[in-house]
Amino acid sequence: MARRFDVVILGAGAAGLMCAIRAGQGGKRVLVLDHAKNPAEKIRISGGGRCNFTNIHAGPKNYLSANPHFAKSALARYTPRDFLDLVEKHRIAWHEKTLGQLFCDDSAKDIIHMLLDEMRAVGATLELKTEISAVEKAPDGFRITTSSGMVEAGSVVIATGGKSIPKMGATGFAYRIAAEFGLKVTDTRPGLVPLTLDPTLLEKLSPLSGIAVDAEVKHGKTSFREALLFTHRGISGPAILQISSYWREGDAIKLQIEPDIDIAARLKDGRKANGKQAAQTVLGEILPKRLAQFLTENAGMTGQMADQGDRKLEALAASAQDWTIVPAGSEGYRTAEVTIGGIDTSEIDSKTMQAKNVPGLYFIGECVDVTGWLGGYNFQWAWASGHACGEAL
Ligand code: FDA
Repeated sequence: MARRFDVVILGAGAAGLMCAIRAGQGGKRVLVLDHAKNPAEKIRISGGGRCNFTNIHAGPKNYLSANPHFAKSALARYTPRDFLDLVEKHRIAWHEKTLGQLFCDDSAKDIIHMLLDEMRAVGATLELKTEISAVEKAPDGFRITTSSGMVEAGSVVIATGGKSIPKMGATGFAYRIAAEFGLKVTDTRPGLVPLTLDPTLLEKLSPLSGIAVDAEVKHGKTSFREALLFTHRGISGPAILQISSYWREGDAIKLQIEPDIDIAARLKDGRKANGKQAAQTVLGEILPKRLAQFLTENAGMTGQMADQGDRKLEALAASAQDWTIVPAGSEGYRTAEVTIGGIDTSEIDSKTMQAKNVPGLYFIGECVDVTGWLGGYNFQWAWASGHACGEAL
């Protein structure tokens, strides 16, 4: 005999757990299934173990989607303040790190315990280490075939996330189910991911590995001002992760290192103050020494400052502040924090997250074509879409 629930949620991640809590509060009998050993593994590792659980500035402008309006309703109905109220109710200490990013003071596990406590309080059931092989329409809802038997449900919520970090159990399950029910899925690609460089450029930049600088990184009209990190594989750091979500193979990105400093003017001032010093020395007072050395060597600038004309100093400054790079690729889903694209939002009701043509089937969280910037925005989408769905169930 199959067990029967009002709602079966597939995926015990951020979105699935929030949805279970809200549906349980509404009196629904809820079962959450996940193939992993532990729930919410991505919450556990997020934010360097402290979980950047929301961003106080989160709004539709911070999300990528083929339909930028889609996320508006859910985000407006469950705000960062709402999640913060829950965090404070559980007496979890938190702090704002930078740019509105809220983190736990102690551990991301506090957020997981909070969600599991809330779930228990509403009587929702969580079953782990459960493989799901099929989701099918049944006369009165859905039939789900799992490694622990058949389960029936009035509604099914797909909350199995995206493809990033397959080592942690990420699968393309949501896209498969969507396709099986005839829903369109947009192209998917890794987002919030370090970018790689072709071997020649990588070798040239290898002396810079480990250097972090403040930078504005631009792709077309989109730009982010955060830290940029040179690595032994290419370029990373928050500024690069942010721009990676907009970047497409073959595109160039522009780097402006230390955008608040007029490096050309500083070099000219340095020449005036002491014409005997080397350009590398003056630049080394503005930029990390290894970067200054690299840029001056690359510019072929030898000799004293007094020997360098304005043009040469301006070109040296431009090599740091008007630097165009064409990345070779990205590190892919292996290290990407998110998957861009997903279930086509035209298939889903933005208020309830229900598939328009399949009553009772819902999609929430990262599997939907809504992807946030770096900085707590992706969890806010998971909470908001999970909450909107849970409320509608
Ligand atoms: P999520 O991936 O959390 O959960 C999906 C669940 O479904 C998992 O438990 C998985 O095991 C399960 N599942 C998958 N396939 C299945 C299958 N076939 N059968 C059964 N179960 C299946 N965001 C943010 O806002 N702040 C941050 O600090 C970070 N930090 C961060 C660090 C790292 C390293 C990563 C990879 C990602 C982040 N993120 C983040 C992004 C954030 O983790 C992500 O957007 C949310 O976890 C998405 O929540 P979901 O619930 O949609 O999916």
